[in-house]
Amino acid sequence: MKVLVVGGGGREHAICWKLSLSTRVRQIFCAPGNGGTAKCDKTENIDIAAMDFDKLIAFAKDNAIDLVVIGPDNPLAEGIVDSMEAQGLRVFGPNKSQAKLEWSKAYAKEVLNQLNIATARFATANSQQTAEAIVKANQWARVVKADGLALGKGVFVCASEDDALQALNTIYKSGKFSDKKVVIEEMLSGEEISLLTLCDGKTLTPLLPSQDHKRRFDDDLGPNTGGMGAYAPVQLYEKHKEAIQSRVLEPLQKALAEGKLNFKGVLYIGLLMHHEKSSADKSSKNQPEPYVLEFNARFGDPETQTILPLLQSDLFDALYSCTDQTLDKQQLLWSKQSSCCVIGAAQGYPDSSSKGETITFPANESNDANEIIFQAGTKLLSTESGEQTVTDGGRIFAAVGLADNMAEARQRAYKLIATVNCQSLDYRRDIAKREATCQSK
Ligand code: AMP
Ligand code: GLY
Repeated sequence: MKVLVVGGGGREHAICWKLSLSTRVRQIFCAPGNGGTAKCDKTENIDIAAMDFDKLIAFAKDNAIDLVVIGPDNPLAEGIVDSMEAQGLRVFGPNKSQAKLEWSKAYAKEVLNQLNIATARFATANSQQTAEAIVKANQWARVVKADGLALGKGVFVCASEDDALQALNTIYKSGKFSDKKVVIEEMLSGEEISLLTLCDGKTLTPLLPSQDHKRRFDDDLGPNTGGMGAYAPVQLYEKHKEAIQSRVLEPLQKALAEGKLNFKGVLYIGLLMHHEKSSADKSSKNQPEPYVLEFNARFGDPETQTILPLLQSDLFDALYSCTDQTLDKQQLLWSKQSSCCVIGAAQGYPDSSSKGETITFPANESNDANEIIFQAGTKLLSTESGEQTVTDGGRIFAAVGLADNMAEARQRAYKLIATVNCQSLDYRRDIAKREATCQSK
């Protein structure tokens, strides 16, 4: 089988790597790919941008591609799947109207309410004036979100009314956001879990839950980013599995089966285990409840780099089954190991990125399957003295460590990242720290 993977981040490197381990996959093309996919087994980079639908379609048809896998959110929101399917291609990913669960936060909230799935209280507004009135009139209204896609930069979790008004000013006046619509939410507090699920239109199969670290700096300080690292499995999920199953997964599964929800691809459920701070009902005071913060309509980054190394089943079969409604026949098996994924980022990320700087990765001569680098913002250049990898983005790569427990997985990931040579590299030092500490108690 021949697969075309669209995208060029760490997520796409991880997808190509896992697909290359499938005996059913003969050849993989990654458009545009990165320095890592350029060197990945069975894989070749194709110089076509993820938004260039016409060229991607022509390439897929000319090369008799059996399956196209879409990585990033933008092409999905712009209808790449609709365009490709109209040309007879088999595509893993949601069409434009299905992807609305990600590209409109207001729509996702409506769906959650309709399905009776807990989500933060909210209101929407179509102008700064209305939004300001909502913030001023409601003490709960402190989280401000631009409605559309904003690479994680359109969400402002505010401590006060003034901060929320400031956030509205940024959305409406900075010129960085094209949205006129905003969603204003109540602030929830508790730990988050990224629960990615595969969907074929009627069946929903959860993948291994993971926890992302979204803030830029240690101890969850600094601005929100696309994700600075992640780990799996998550003990918190195991502890509340039944509640998550009955209050979130079952309603979604039922809605799919009854045709009230239409979705194919990865439905990424952003969960927050909310702790009611001043609950009058003392009997439930220590039980966090699962709330859905958001949906994404694609694989998460860096969740994908974190969980795919633990997947023992064939990724190609699983993705293909989502395109012909046979996901119910697939059983996904997971390793019992722990995975810790640390993102190596440019020092200025998320405000700026690094371009053209030389970066050297360890050779992994021993072929250690417990230490994996997935490249993201990198490019492979051909120079007179040979090939050279250079930086080309904000999040540059992921170092993944696998082991029998989280403490060792962390050690491996941090040992691995320390062997990467790149001058302006920065990374969080506390990925999975809390989980490793809890496990050892
Ligand atoms: P979203 O893109 O909607 O998931 O928001 C990005 C991040 O902002 C989430 O991962 C949370 O850390 C935070 N966040 C979003 N909504 C809320 C909320 N209602 N209460 C507290 N934190 C939130
Ligand atoms: N890591 C968060 C995301 O992929 O949206």
